[in-house]
Formats: sequence, C-alpha cells, structure tokens
Amino acid sequence: MSERIRIAPSVLSADLTRLAEQVGQVLAGGADWLHVDVMDGRFVPNLTFGANMVEALRTLTDKPIDAHLMVLEPERHIDAFAAAGASVFTFHPEATVHVQRQLASVRGRGMLAGLALNPGSPLALAEEVIADLDLLLIMTVNPGFGGQGYLPSSTGKIRRARELLSAHRSRAVLEVDGGITPQTIVAAHAAGADTFVAGNAIFTSSDPAREVRELRRQCLATV
Ligand code: DX5
Ligand code: ZN
Repeated sequence: MSERIRIAPSVLSADLTRLAEQVGQVLAGGADWLHVDVMDGRFVPNLTFGANMVEALRTLTDKPIDAHLMVLEPERHIDAFAAAGASVFTFHPEATVHVQRQLASVRGRGMLAGLALNPGSPLALAEEVIADLDLLLIMTVNPGFGGQGYLPSSTGKIRRARELLSAHRSRAVLEVDGGITPQTIVAAHAAGADTFVAGNAIFTSSDPAREVRELRRQCLATV
C-alpha cells in the first residue's frame, strides 16, 4: 500500500457563484490537488469547463491542478491546458486513436500524463502503455455527472490495478473518481488507491474543510 494520500476536491460540485471562497475552504482543510472535470457533451452527455477554469484556479493556488478530460480527441487541448497551468492531464483511451503518442505529448508539455478507465474498460488498456503513465485513474462511476454512487465492483478493479502497477514497478499515481465519501473511501484506500477525487461529499457539506479532513482521517484510520 502506498504511504501518500491525496485528496482532490472536484470543483464540478462547487457553488460556482462562490468558487474562490469554496476553493479557499478545501485548501484550508488540506486538499492536496484540485480536480477539474472537463466534459464535451460528446464523450459524456454533460458540458462543463475548459482551460479557462484551470487558468482561474491557478490564480488562487500553487497546488497541483488535476485536469480530467472526458472529451473526444483530447490531444486538441493539450497545449491549452499546459498554458493554463494544469499539472496533470488525464484522458480516456477510447477518446483518441493514438493513446501512447498523446501520453508522450502530455509529458512533453511538462504535465503528468494520466489515463482514465471507465468501469467497463479493461486494465489491459493501461498495461500496454504503462511506461508512459504518470497516473492511472480508475473511474468508480460512469463519468458524466457528480453525485453518483460508488460502484462496488470498483474495489476489486482498484486492487488489480495496484497489482498491475507493482508488477511493472510503476510509480504511477493510482487515483479513483466517483462516489467517494467517508464510507466508500475506506475500501478504495484499502484496495491500493492513493489519490481520491470527491465532489459531492465535500461541496454539499456545510463545512467543506472538515469534509476534506474527514476523508483523509478515514484513510489513515484503516492503514
Ligand atoms: C464524474 C467526474 C467526477 C465527479 C465526482 O464524471 O469525473 O470527478 O466530479 O463527483 P462525485 O464525488 O460527486 O461522484
Ligand atoms: Zn473527474
């Protein structure tokens, strides 16, 4: 099990009329990364933000900004996200033809290269490009919306993903995204995830800072 725990609040669930204030709250609670869900209405049904959200967040913090692109042809946006100040650029393998080339190009622009796997997508998609990965994101819901329930089948997949990374001596971050709460984080952490995206659990709370601390506490309590 990895020793490092990162909590990455997803601003998708923030109150956008109070974005700076809410970001301040999660940073005060010890948030490690800020997660930005980019949706194009094609790869997933919903439409959200572009690189301008990263640019805005960059004015609020020096912490890593974790861009999750749920868009077709993510390669069209690599330069813009790098210029906006994104630290991590994660995309889905089904969204592009040349996955390895795009991972290399993300690294070439100075960002960590991440690959995201939907619940129905096999780990083999990541294994083929494992040397090119800085981050593997296991989706624990079908992407598109915040506030969905953690799929219980995810836990076994996270465990297999951890085994895969270990077998290849990969130091890639193992991130999970979707339905993470103080309850579900326990199983995801025990299975080997080290980085936890959470939207609804944090931003529907009356005290987002406390919620970030609580997520971390639940991980540490189960080590
Ligand atoms: C889902 C997004 C998630 C989402 C998570 O499509 O990729 O990052 O914001 O939100 P919660 O934690 O509410 O499931
Ligand atoms: Zn996400």
